[in-house]
Amino acid sequence: MSLLEIKDVEVAYGRTQVLFGSTLTVEPDSLVVLLGRNGVGKSTLMKSTMGLMKTFGGTVHFEGEDITSLSPSQRVKRGIAYVPQGREGFPQLTVMENLKVVLEATAHRDKNAIDEALDLFPRLKPILDRDAGFLSGGQKQQLAIARALITRPKVILLDEPTEGIQPSIILEIEDAIAAMNKASGLAILLVEQHLEFALSIGDHYAVMEHGEIIASGKTAEVEEQTVRELIAV
Ligand SMILES: Nc1ncnc2c1ncn2[C@@H]1O[C@H](COP(=O)(O)OP(=O)(O)O)[C@@H](O)[C@H]1O
Ligand SMILES: [Mg+2]
Repeated sequence: MSLLEIKDVEVAYGRTQVLFGSTLTVEPDSLVVLLGRNGVGKSTLMKSTMGLMKTFGGTVHFEGEDITSLSPSQRVKRGIAYVPQGREGFPQLTVMENLKVVLEATAHRDKNAIDEALDLFPRLKPILDRDAGFLSGGQKQQLAIARALITRPKVILLDEPTEGIQPSIILEIEDAIAAMNKASGLAILLVEQHLEFALSIGDHYAVMEHGEIIASGKTAEVEEQTVRELIAV
């Protein structure tokens, strides 16, 4: 059974349709990279998977259950986490308070979840008392992923986590993404513009164009140039 099964999803902003029957599957333990140019609908697909956008067609199943009509918080409880593009936290709360707020909203309430998340992002440890609003872009992104991990998700949706971040920190974030997939078997759906990195970290890829997934498969079985051409269509 697939972990996450998005099937024929259709979404519109007002009268403008943006997703035209998007179909994408995430298997347990896998890391799927979602590729495509700006504006093709990648973020919208993630938002609708979280229940943050109303779909007028298609279904979303998680562990075999139809979750198409569940609220975002119900989906989080099922084990889906989401780190949106732009990485918002609570800027007026400290790093630690940002983590605790999430912990208090979980069913497990296990404080170890905070330490586990911080072990993946050790750069956050010396700045736990700093207000999140004063963090660098890279630190904010690390905090955003750490917050998502505290819910102990089975799958995490990461929307361009390395966008606009300085190169030295990008490497750390990439390593942490690989580690949370490899070490803990967390399934990941990752939107990533850097194609070479995307194909190296992902075991599966999907290419989106104008609100549809036009190609997908195993990264080991495709050439980078082929994917590059698919994205540029
Ligand atoms: N809040 C919004 N209202 C209206 N149109 C939007 C909104 N957000 C995104 N869009 C449009 O939906 C399309 C897909 O956007 P998006 O899902 O953000 O694409 P991507 O993440 O692939 O760059 C784009 O044409 C974009 O302009
Ligand atoms: Mg986007």
